[in-house]
Amino acid sequence: MKYASVSDRLAGLGEAKWAVHFAGKQRAAAGQAVILLSIGEPDLPPPAAVVEQAVTSLRSGRTRYASGSGELAARSAVANRLARRSGLEVSPDQIVYASGTQNALFTAMLTLAEHGDEVLVPDPYYATYEGVVAATGATFVAVPTLPEDGFHLTAAALAAKVTPRSRVLLLNTPANPTGAVLSAAEVEAIGAVCEQHDLWIVCDEVYADIAFDVPFASPFDHPRLRERTVAVASISKSHALPGFRAGWAAAPLELARRMTAVSEAMLFGLQPFVADALVVALEQEHPEVADLRRTFRERADALTAALHGSPAVHVRNPEGGMFVMADIRPTGLTGEQFAWRLLDEFGVVVMPGESFGPGGAGHVRLALTVDADVMAEACHRIRALAEQLLAERAT
Ligand SMILES: Cc1ncc(COP(=O)(O)O)c(C=O)c1O
Repeated sequence: MKYASVSDRLAGLGEAKWAVHFAGKQRAAAGQAVILLSIGEPDLPPPAAVVEQAVTSLRSGRTRYASGSGELAARSAVANRLARRSGLEVSPDQIVYASGTQNALFTAMLTLAEHGDEVLVPDPYYATYEGVVAATGATFVAVPTLPEDGFHLTAAALAAKVTPRSRVLLLNTPANPTGAVLSAAEVEAIGAVCEQHDLWIVCDEVYADIAFDVPFASPFDHPRLRERTVAVASISKSHALPGFRAGWAAAPLELARRMTAVSEAMLFGLQPFVADALVVALEQEHPEVADLRRTFRERADALTAALHGSPAVHVRNPEGGMFVMADIRPTGLTGEQFAWRLLDEFGVVVMPGESFGPGGAGHVRLALTVDADVMAEACHRIRALAEQLLAERAT
């Protein structure tokens, strides 16, 4: 039998990256005491009012087909939120409701890129980006970012990778896995390169509500750049509701119209009771959202303090998001080798930096998704392995 080439392009892109994580989960299921720092799923409770709305809507019969582009109330709630954020007008017609950020990303990329195009992606990058780009047939072009720059994309590094085939820049701020948050000035400088070369910007803002000191900045909030930007996000992280798959893309009108057609071909609308819950999530203030941001920040501070001063493992406090990149290059191991040793010998599961592109080499990603005591114990074990390896290396 013949299969379409998209399945060849995607084959094997996913699983290898997650091998350590799956092994750790298997060992945990078999009863081993394993600390999982490998997955970006918030462990904190979602806002009660949002869950309550979903239940009420479900009970009141909001279970029928929804409009293909998304319920107007949900699109309006997203538009109002983005308008409040930027002070610029955003119409509900610019919003495409999506089944999570991942689906919004896929819809955006399929609408913007195809075979023969190049998509520029700052490296390290979120693990699904390669698949999203490969699905369109476009070529994935990694743009290096450096640990010593806090993994911030620079306009110069971007410009150096632009070719006549470049079509889209896929940005992510606050970033997974690096915790980098781009400042407004950086967005402006990067945006200038995109304007010069007529590139679209797809901005993955799923961690927008989890920026710490550097205020969150989006090209969609910029008076000129918004014409070439599609911002994608969801309530998966901010409201600890990944299972709701409630997300969106915000784009210029013509792009939103085209994305809606792509989305309708794939989904034919989403659950109205979840759309109702999204409205409550975005239009009301929820203490749980502020608690979540504060907790991740406290955990990031505790984690960096626990590893501070180690000669074998270096961490920098993240500027936002739910992850910390730990630089274990002094141990002489790759991120992958370190992650396996850490699992096998110390029962802690982390993601190899290489799972997020060549730029993550020599690092491991630690998720801030366990409580303080567990994290302190995990840090103790990470430090023990790293310092043991350093000592072995010296002899
Ligand atoms: C950078 C990034 N983008 C997108 C997603 C997927 O988010 P969603 O649940 O909204 O599809 C994740 C989830 O880990 C992520 O880290």
